Amino acid sequence: MTIQPTGGADSAPLYAPSSEIAENAHADAARYEELYQKSVSDPEGFWAEEGKRLDWIKPFTKVKNTSFDYDNVSIKWFEDGTLNVAANCIDRHLATRGDQTAIIFEPDNPDEAAQHITYKQLHKEVQVFANVLKDMGVDKGDRVVIYLPMIPAAAYAMLACARIGAIHSIVFAGFSPDALADRVNGCDAKVVICSDYAPRGGRNTPLKSNCDKALLRCSDKVKLLVVERTGAQIDWVEGRDYKYEDMAAGVAPDCAPTEVNAEDPLFILYTSGSTGKPKGVVHCSGGYLAYAAMTHQYVFDYQDGDIYWCTADVGWVTGHSYIVYGPLANGATTVMFEGVPTYPDAGRFWAVCEKHKVTQFYTAPTAIRALMGKGPEWVEKYDLSSLRILGSVGEPINPEAWNWYNENVGKGSCPIVDTWWQTETGGILIAPLPGATPTKPGSATKPFFGVQPVILDDKGNELSGATEGVLAIKDSWPGQMRTVWGDHDRFVSTYFEMFKGYYFSGDGCRRDADGYYWITGRVDDVINVSGHRMGTAEVESALVAHETVSEAAVVGYPHDIKGQGIYCYVTLMDGVEATDELRAQLQAWVRQEIGPIAKPDVIQWAPGLPKTRSGKIMRRILRKIAENETDSLGDTSTLADPSVVDDLIANRANA
Ligand code: PRX
Repeated sequence: MTIQPTGGADSAPLYAPSSEIAENAHADAARYEELYQKSVSDPEGFWAEEGKRLDWIKPFTKVKNTSFDYDNVSIKWFEDGTLNVAANCIDRHLATRGDQTAIIFEPDNPDEAAQHITYKQLHKEVQVFANVLKDMGVDKGDRVVIYLPMIPAAAYAMLACARIGAIHSIVFAGFSPDALADRVNGCDAKVVICSDYAPRGGRNTPLKSNCDKALLRCSDKVKLLVVERTGAQIDWVEGRDYKYEDMAAGVAPDCAPTEVNAEDPLFILYTSGSTGKPKGVVHCSGGYLAYAAMTHQYVFDYQDGDIYWCTADVGWVTGHSYIVYGPLANGATTVMFEGVPTYPDAGRFWAVCEKHKVTQFYTAPTAIRALMGKGPEWVEKYDLSSLRILGSVGEPINPEAWNWYNENVGKGSCPIVDTWWQTETGGILIAPLPGATPTKPGSATKPFFGVQPVILDDKGNELSGATEGVLAIKDSWPGQMRTVWGDHDRFVSTYFEMFKGYYFSGDGCRRDADGYYWITGRVDDVINVSGHRMGTAEVESALVAHETVSEAAVVGYPHDIKGQGIYCYVTLMDGVEATDELRAQLQAWVRQEIGPIAKPDVIQWAPGLPKTRSGKIMRRILRKIAENETDSLGDTSTLADPSVVDDLIANRANA
């Protein structure tokens, strides 16, 4: 069976789901239309029903209480219900699927045995972990920072927090000690959880020693809980550091789930914005979990017996919603992979799919592009016949990568769900449903139930029909973030100020004549590097923190594999010589300040930056130069000194 492309309204090929997939899926086209109409015409009724997919301790009587009104932004779902998130992800499955595998752990090193952790075992591990946290003084509402590799303990730690009503904040294990310290301080964490080392791609990141450095910048009340991963040598700070395995041996095996309100925070996740420091995005317990579970079930068409694999890291929102919370709330089997796509070779993803008979595979376009470059032979070596659905997330997927994914991995018979969403949205907002929505390479297609996307012009007018503008959402959905940790005003000003009455996504978007959405990328100063979101302001502030740098401006430029690369214009202090050695030093400096993902791809020396007479840097021009589109610079006459532009063009670095 092959999915044959036919023409869509705008002549993009259209891949319809096969009748076999449509018949067996949770929703076919008619069902999608029916449910979507209900979800937007009667959100209260629709979500009252969907809220029942969770087990409530005290059932909710109120469903939706939300306002996008600029003067009173407030989002509450199921607000008088109480529940426990860990009990929903574990305990309620014990009677029916206690011996089913909940988590398959695939280690970085393929020679190390995979682990199959059943729901019963998960229950045991999470209770012990929860009791260890309690022993360390963690109470309901306290913050716990998790800085762990992709090992089962990361899921145990998340669920242990949820079990006792503590709020976790995961920091991606690739972040630097400074970035970690900022986040520990930002949420005033009581405990940080790390492992000794993080094996990844054959290398070992010293997480414990990173914590030692970070904690020098934090309150001395912060305790460090260390989980063993490799057993290699680490330093120890008496009185501050706790060894998980020793603590676990001394606690009771049972830990009753704590009752929390639907609107109590479940986690904080820091993410980059266009200005200043990363924001602590707050997600709450009830609405988030219901939304993560529902989207996981429908978008991936999860069915009993499936083996679902999302290759993200729990350090990002995708790992939260679609490795841990969504799948486990649905009683699924979810794969946790510690490694990278190219270790020990470019066949690793497909080896893991074959080994565990993966049915749903969800990854990022950057990984697909990287593997595409290695040739189809790496895919052909493996039996991928178990695959049914493929997913993509994190950035627009270019049609070449989509086609390669479809033909080589899906063998032309697996629907590709291109899922658009954000840390802020908690779950997928725009995506095809495998049995319902014909797909077009490069389009995230149609909104999920309850989601009302609109395209606005720059004055905030809603545009109709086939059009292009910025993407905003008209009404709330249960997975939406509730606030920025400790700064509700920032929440309101970031998402609700520019376009009154809407949630503003920060993305540009086109809608075609079929009503399909095509995300065109960020319209603010956020760049997307290998699917990782980064504020250009963060890279700039790292650069100017270096003693040789007087000024820096950072923009994104098209990069074949990463989607966008990091292009930096750097003005040096007077008297500092611009050498290749200094360039390498600055690259290493940013890497060390933020983390490897932020390492600049290009540094161009800029004796001057294009500024308006009021001193504002004209990034539009810098973007054009970085993109090598110097013949469409637009008006430069308002610059204080237009000649700097000629110099930048003449000395443009070859990106
Ligand atoms: O620009 C969009 C892009 O990633 C941004 C959100 O990044 P983050 O909060 O890190 O979450 C990533 C994983 C959900 C969006 O504003 N983006 C995400 N998914 C897509 C996408 N762009 C195009 N197509 C997608 N499927």
